[in-house]
Amino acid sequence: MGRVSTRLLTAAAQAPSGHNAQPWKFVAEGQRVRILPDLSRRLPAVDPDDHALFISLGCALENLVVAARGEGYNAEVDDTSLVGENSEIRVHLQPSETEDRHEDRLYAAIPERQSTRRTYDGRPIPSADLRRLDDASRRDGTGFHLFTDPGRIEPLIELVEEGNRRQFSDPAFVEELVAWIRFNPREVEGRKDGLTHAVMGLPSIPRWLGRFVMRKLVTPGSQARSAARAIRSSAALMLFTTDRAHPRGWVDLGRSFERVALTATTLDIRQAHMNMPCEVPTLREELRWHLGLGDAHPLLLLRIGYAKPMPRSPRRPLEEVLVKGSP
Ligand SMILES: Cc1cc2nc3c(=O)[nH]c(=O)nc-3n(C[C@H](O)[C@H](O)[C@H](O)COP(=O)(O)O)c2cc1C
Repeated sequence: MGRVSTRLLTAAAQAPSGHNAQPWKFVAEGQRVRILPDLSRRLPAVDPDDHALFISLGCALENLVVAARGEGYNAEVDDTSLVGENSEIRVHLQPSETEDRHEDRLYAAIPERQSTRRTYDGRPIPSADLRRLDDASRRDGTGFHLFTDPGRIEPLIELVEEGNRRQFSDPAFVEELVAWIRFNPREVEGRKDGLTHAVMGLPSIPRWLGRFVMRKLVTPGSQARSAARAIRSSAALMLFTTDRAHPRGWVDLGRSFERVALTATTLDIRQAHMNMPCEVPTLREELRWHLGLGDAHPLLLLRIGYAKPMPRSPRRPLEEVLVKGSP
């Protein structure tokens, strides 16, 4: 594979991940690629059961599959080894003759996709485009819900605000978040991971000042209010659920989310996570009850709409995510 494998793994590593922790490792062996969780990059405060970690692996997998098709390969996914410490996803690549323009557009969208955390312009999304997002979300065992009506969005905003208040009142959550913020270009260059000051719309400051601001000036109330404003500037909310609260279900949800995110990118639709009520277990239950989701687990909530892009988020170089022995 050589150069092709480099392109496929670069695409996989451009996937989104919680706090941009990039919790993945890759092994490339001939026509086979393996994706492994990097458990040293867990987020125990915000993601104690690792569901966000496996969703992130699902995003990387979807990028890899889309990139493989774009490079002329069929990707056969074996996710039967997603159990316990030695979890891995195996992808077998077979040369393919089929051309698919739609897949090519998704492939081109991989480096363009981003989490856009700024205020949106309030324009509604045409219903034909919402249908395309809905089509892109389809995957067995996962659910997708769109909310465009302010009457349905307002109760969800209350849950987001409450989630924000609870998370920012929890010192372990704030400590973990601060540890993943890169407050100035020197920190960004040194680590090439985490949430940079630029993607969060913040000025470059020394770490001591960043810690002070995050601990003393960013209050649970101020965070809740700015999340509510951000949602009200957006066109819609979208929610992803899974029927299965285990790694295979989480990986599938990640694949569904990434396909929607790439499709949205091709339509100039921006997205940003508003996961707070999915991350606090009691609020997740409330969300499930409020929406009548039955046994489905609501795990990702995002706002979508139109806005200018933000600066890009960094990624670690491939050498750092390739397990030894790979080309
Ligand atoms: C499972 C998952 C959970 C995430 N949770 C949040 C979140 O709660 N808040 C947020 O602002 N971004 C969240 N993100 C977005 C990541 O921070 C983002 O993907 C990462 O910083 C890389 O940036 P990019 O998406 O622009 O490439 C999440 C992403 C994933 C995949």
